[in-house]
Amino acid sequence: MLNISEIRAAHQINPVGLSAAPRFSWKLQSGKRGVLQTGYHLQIALRPGFERPLWDKQTNSGQSAHVAAEGFEVQPLTAYYWRVRVQDNHGRDSGWSETGRFVTALTDAGQWQAPFITAETPADAATSKATMMRGEFTVEKPLAAAYVLCSALGLYHLHLNGEKVGDDQLAPGWTSYHKHLLYQTHDVTTLLKPGRHALGAMVGAGWYKGLMGFLGSRNNYGAQTAFACQLHLVYQDGTTQTVCTGPGWRCADAPVTFAEIYDGEVYDARLEQPGWCAAGFDDATWRPAAVLKADTSVLCAQAGGRIKCHEVFTPKAVLTTPQGDTVIDFGQNLTGWPRIHAHGAPGEVIELACFETLDAEGNVYTDNLRSAKQSLRYICKGEDGWYQPLFTFYGFRYVHVKTWPGAVRAQDFCSVAVYSDMAETGSFACSNPDLNQLQSNIRWSMKSNFLDVPTDCPQRNERMGWTGDAQIFCRTAAYLMDVLGFYRKWLQDVAADQTPEGGVPHVVPDIITGQNAEDDWLIDQGTHSAAAWADVIVLNPWNLYLAYGDAAILRQFYAPMKKWIDFMRAHADGVVWNYRLQFGDWVALDAEEGSYFGATPNDLSCTAYYAYSTGVFAKIAEVLGKDEDAREYAALCEEIKAGFQRLFFTPGGEMTVQTQTAHILALYFGLVPDAFLDKTAAALLRLLEKEDGHLVTGFMGTPYFTHALSQSGHVKEAYALLLKTDFPSWLYQVRRGATTIWEHWDGLKPDGSMWSADMNSFNHYAYGAVGDWMYRVVAGINNTEDAPGYRHSLLCPRPGGGLSYAEGSLETVYGLLSCRWEVQDDGSVQVRAAVTPNTQCTLALPDALAMADTDGLRFEPRDGVLTAQAGSGVYTLRFWPVAADALKK
Ligand code: BGC
Repeated sequence: MLNISEIRAAHQINPVGLSAAPRFSWKLQSGKRGVLQTGYHLQIALRPGFERPLWDKQTNSGQSAHVAAEGFEVQPLTAYYWRVRVQDNHGRDSGWSETGRFVTALTDAGQWQAPFITAETPADAATSKATMMRGEFTVEKPLAAAYVLCSALGLYHLHLNGEKVGDDQLAPGWTSYHKHLLYQTHDVTTLLKPGRHALGAMVGAGWYKGLMGFLGSRNNYGAQTAFACQLHLVYQDGTTQTVCTGPGWRCADAPVTFAEIYDGEVYDARLEQPGWCAAGFDDATWRPAAVLKADTSVLCAQAGGRIKCHEVFTPKAVLTTPQGDTVIDFGQNLTGWPRIHAHGAPGEVIELACFETLDAEGNVYTDNLRSAKQSLRYICKGEDGWYQPLFTFYGFRYVHVKTWPGAVRAQDFCSVAVYSDMAETGSFACSNPDLNQLQSNIRWSMKSNFLDVPTDCPQRNERMGWTGDAQIFCRTAAYLMDVLGFYRKWLQDVAADQTPEGGVPHVVPDIITGQNAEDDWLIDQGTHSAAAWADVIVLNPWNLYLAYGDAAILRQFYAPMKKWIDFMRAHADGVVWNYRLQFGDWVALDAEEGSYFGATPNDLSCTAYYAYSTGVFAKIAEVLGKDEDAREYAALCEEIKAGFQRLFFTPGGEMTVQTQTAHILALYFGLVPDAFLDKTAAALLRLLEKEDGHLVTGFMGTPYFTHALSQSGHVKEAYALLLKTDFPSWLYQVRRGATTIWEHWDGLKPDGSMWSADMNSFNHYAYGAVGDWMYRVVAGINNTEDAPGYRHSLLCPRPGGGLSYAEGSLETVYGLLSCRWEVQDDGSVQVRAAVTPNTQCTLALPDALAMADTDGLRFEPRDGVLTAQAGSGVYTLRFWPVAADALKK
C-alpha cells in the first residue's frame, strides 16, 4: 500500500489567511522499504468536488515538500481545495489524498480598506485600561462566504453576535508594528445568516502601548490603542459587500480597568455589559469611536502560528507558607494564566500574584520579578463564572492567593499554558529519569518563551526578543516543535529592525534603540551588533533550512545576512571583530564575582563568531547559486580563520586564552589548526578536570560543550558532563526540582541562597540548547547539508553514559524519523531505525566493532566507522560495541 498520510499548504494544515499561493507538502506512508516518489499529480479547485480544477497537473518529480504550483496565482479572500496523488518507484499509485483547503486573505496591501478606530484620546497615554468598540451590520441575502480580517494597535479579542471569534489570544502578537503589523483572518461563513448582526472588539494596551523593556518605557509604538477590521460578505448571487470599522462605531470602557504585560490585569466583573456585541444592544450611553490615522500599508496577513491556550494544569497542592500565605502550586513553571472560578458577592475582591519559586524557607519569592507585579485582581459581580485574563500573561508555577471570597479550594483554580501554535515534532526518552526531566524542562522553557516572539524569559520586566537566546536555541527548538513559521515571522522583524548599515539589534522587536535616552550605558555602548546575538540573522535561517529543507528562507533573508557580514567586515580590525557592547560568554561562571560577563575575551569570542557566520554565509550563497559571493565569503572565512589561529594559538598549539569557552568555540567552529586538534581537545578536558568535571561556561560555550567533546572523540566525557548532578550542571537544576531551565547555573545555589535577584529567571531556554546534543548525538538524529530537511538523514546514535536505552523521534516534513538503541543482556546493542518514505538515510555506528544483525543492510567501514545506506523502512540492527564494558548495564 502507498498512502498519503498528511498534506500541508504553506507548511500548515488547512490554513486561513494566506497572502500568496502556497507551496504544498505531503507525507507518504508505505509498508515497503526503499520507497521513493517518482511523480505527483496535484489538483487545485474552487470546489471540493474538483469539477473544473484550476490546476490539474502530473509532474514527474520526487519532490514532496515545499512544492510550488508554478504559475498558479490566487485571488484574494477565496477558499481553495487541493489534493494530490503520487506514484512511487515500485510502480504504485497512492490514490487521491484527503482534500485540503486553504483560504486567502488580501493578496495586496492596497486591498485593505478599514481605518483604525480608537476608543481612547491622547489623554489616555498613561492609562492601561481596555476598551470596547462595536458596530452593527445587515446581511442582506443568503451568503456564500464571509471572512473577517482584523488587527489592532494594542491587543484585541474579536466578537461576533456575543461570541468570541476563533481562539486567538494576545492577537495581533508582537512585531515591529510600524514596519510590519499582522492581521488575522477568520472564516465566519457559518456564523452569519441574513439579518442584523454585531461585531465587537475588546482592545488592550499590550506591547504596543503598555510599559515594555527594562528601561521602563511605555507608548513604545503609540499612545492610543486602536482596532481595524473588515468583513467581506460574498452572497450566493455573486454580489459582495464589505463592512469596515469606521466613525459609525460606538465605544466604551471595558471591565478590564487595567492590563499590562508585566503587571497583570484588573477585571471588574460588575462593569460587564451583557449583550454588548449583540445586534440591538442599546449603546446610547457609549461614545462615538474616532478614526485614528495609522499606516495600513504595513499590514500583512498572518495565517498560522497564532497564540493559543494549550495545556491546562490543576493544582498539585494548596500550601500555607511558614509566613502564613496561601499558595497554590501547579507543579509546572510555565507562561500563561491562572484560570479561576470566581464566586463572590458583588464588590468582593479576589487578589492573586503569580510567581516562579518559593524561597529557601518555603515562602513566596517575588524579588526576581524585579518591578513586574504579575498580579491579578478580580472584582466579583455576585454570579459564578470562570475567568482568565485577556491582555496579559504571567511566568509562574505558583499563585499567591492574597484575597479570596470564602475558603480556597483547589477545584476553583487551574493554570493554562499560552504560547504560539506549533506542532510538537520531537520526542526523546532514555533510561535516565533525570535526563527525561531535563528534556521536559527544555520543552517547557521553550513553550514558555515562544509566545509570538522568542523571548528570554516570561516573568520579570523583560520578556523581550533577545537575539542571542533565539540564536543559540534554534537547533534544539527545531527538534522539539515545528518552528519554521514561528522564526520566519520573527526574522522579518530582525530584518526590518536591522540598522541601515547592517547592524542587528540586541532585541527584536527593537524597543530599546531610541528609547535609551536615559541610559548612559546603552547610549555609550550601543543597542545592536553583539556577536552570537546579531548572528541570528545568518544562523537561524541556515538552521531552519537544514531542519525543514526550504531554501526559500535563505532567499528571503539573504540580503540582511549579507549586510550583517559586511557590517562585521567593515568594523573589524584586521580580522579581529569586536564592536562596542558585547555580551560575550554571558553569565558564565568564570566571570568575576557578581559580573555577568564571562572570562573569555571578546576579541576571541567575537572573532570566532565572525569566522563561523561568514563560513555559513558562504555555504548559503552556494546553495542559492550565488557563486561569486560564495567564493568571496569562503575566502574571507579562511582569512579570518587564519588570523584567529595566528592570534589565539601559540606556535606550540596552546590557546592563548585558557577558558573552556575559548576551546569549545575553536573546536566547534572548526578554527583549530589540524595539527592541534587533539591538543586542543585535551586542553579542554584539562580545563574541565580543573573544575572537577563541571562546566563554567555561559551563553556562548554551553550550547556546544558536549558537541566539542564528542566531535573530538570524547563521547564518554561529554556524557559525563551531561550527567553531572552536583552544582553546577544541568541535572543539578533537575535535582533541585526545576521544571524549566534556569538562566543561571547558580540561580539557586547549593546552600539555598540565590544569585542576585536583579537577574535571576527560572525560565530561560538558553542553556536548554544542550537538547540539540541529546537528539543529535545520544539519539543520533541528524540532518545533512546535501539533502536538508531530512531528505537524506544521518542516523548516528552514540550509546553511552550508562544508559541502557535511548530513543528519539522527529516528525520531519517527510514524515516520522526515529532511532532507538538498547544495550542487550549479552552486551550487544540493538538499534531500531525508522526512515520515512521518500527519504534516504546513512546509518553510521561509530561504536560498533562488528555487526551482529544487519537486517538486510550492507555495512562497510567508512573512515573507520561501520556505515550503511538505507532507503525508507524500519530496520532492526544489532552490533557488538568496541568498548563493551563501557556500555554494560
Ligand atoms: C536577558 C538575556 C539576554 C541578555 C543580554 C538578559 O537580561 O535575559 O537572556 O540575552 O540580557 O545580555
